[in-house]
This record gives sequence, C-alpha cells and structure tokens, in this order.
Amino acid sequence: MSPSEVPSRRIEVREVRPEEIPWVRELAVRSVIHGIPGSRDIPAAEVQRRADQEFGDLELAFRTDPGFRILVAADAHRPLGYLMLDLNHREASTGETQALIRDLAIEPAAWGSRAVHALVRQAARLAYQHGLRYLVGEVTAANRRPLVVAQRLGFVIERHQIAVQCGPEGLLPMPGRPGPDLEVSGPEGCQE
Ligand SMILES: CC(C)(COP(=O)(O)OP(=O)(O)OC[C@H]1O[C@@H](n2cnc3c(N)ncnc32)[C@H](O)[C@@H]1OP(=O)(O)O)[C@@H](O)C(=O)NCCC(=O)NCCS
Repeated sequence: MSPSEVPSRRIEVREVRPEEIPWVRELAVRSVIHGIPGSRDIPAAEVQRRADQEFGDLELAFRTDPGFRILVAADAHRPLGYLMLDLNHREASTGETQALIRDLAIEPAAWGSRAVHALVRQAARLAYQHGLRYLVGEVTAANRRPLVVAQRLGFVIERHQIAVQCGPEGLLPMPGRPGPDLEVSGPEGCQE
C-alpha cells in the first residue's frame, strides 16, 4: 500500500473489540519508542519491555474501569490505529476533571490516512458526552508528527516538561540517546 492510496479509504471509529486487544498491545509496544525524549539514554528495548509489562495494567483498567476506553479506527479490512482515553483525569493546577489521551498510535502503513483525526474527534465527542470540557494529551518534544496533528486540530500547548541530569556537584547535561547499536533496528525503531 502506498501512502497515496490511503486517504480514499472509509474510516470508522468504534470501541475496541476484545479480540483486538493483542494487536493494540503489540502496536503500543512498537510505538512507545516515539515517546522517548531525545535527551535520555535509556535503550529502546528496555522501554519496550517495560511498556509490554505495563500493558497488563491498562488491559485490567479497560476491563474494570468504565472511565478508561480504547477507541479503534478501522477501514473495511483492518484496524488502523487506537486511542486510549481516560475520562477521569484531573488537571494538576486547576483540579478540573478532564479527558486524557493516555496513548495513541496508527500503524505506520496507515500514517497519513487521517485515521488519527477521526480518533481524536471521536474522543472529544465522548468526553463531551461525559460532561467534560477539555481533552488533553502529552507529546514528547522530539516527536513532531503528533504535535503537528494536534496543532492542526486546534490543540494548544499548555505546559512544558523540563529535565536535567543530577550529579555529585549538582546539575549535569542530559545524556542524549544512545548509539545505534542500542536502538531497535528497522524503520519502526527510528526517532522522528
Ligand atoms: C502520531 C501519529 C498518531 C500521527 O498520525 P499520522 O497518520 O502519522 O499523522 P498525519 O500523517 O495525518 O500527520 C502528520 C503530519 O506531520 C508531518 N510531519 C512529520 N514529521 C514532521 C517533522 N519532523 N516536522 C514537521 N512535520 C512533520 C507530516 O508531514 C504530516 O503532515 P502532512 O499531513 O502535511 O503531510 C502516528 O504518526 C503514530 O502513530 N506515531 C507513533 C506513535 C506516536 O508517536 N504516538 C503519539 C504519542 S503522543
């Protein structure tokens, strides 16, 4: 499938089906590397191992917590991407309950399909139906794609995360990403 074929697809957004959970987990683990800040030297494989373990908690939340939802965008043939939504998130400064995009990913073959736009719009509608006024998410500074999408959809940047390394004398520069031998190989291992 070439990217130019993608936009003509008809995309629907719906709640995840139980049989799609293993695919969500696998895509989430593949995609987690895009969220690693460019300033940190943790190996991608270690982050992916942790993400795989943590997915068990998310799966439990999905099964037991009505405020935790997983939406899936799909075309006529297959699921294209997912959005995990927490409808009980609290904004740290104001205390307002709001909707949080816990995680979001599209299959690389469907990047550019606009499935992400459909997912985010549906998440906003769902949040509104639950009496929530705001939809928020966190984006890693080096990860340009979601930032571009979010700003196009009308999201504003509300907060910056700052980080510095700690050393015996005080502050040290952040280490940066490790060399390529410690990163996942192939296109899915690339940082944007
Ligand atoms: C983030 C994600 C959901 C976005 O979906 P997508 O289908 O790739 O998004 P789109 O193609 O509609 O839009 C991305 C835009 O960013 C642009 N872009 C990509 N890299 C860019 C860069 N380095 N600088 C500026 N713009 C960039 C693309 O060209 C595109 O714009 P266009 O429509 O004008 O071509 C998807 O890329 C993904 O799953 N990424 C991996 C997981 C991830 O990062 N999740 C987000 C966690 S917050």
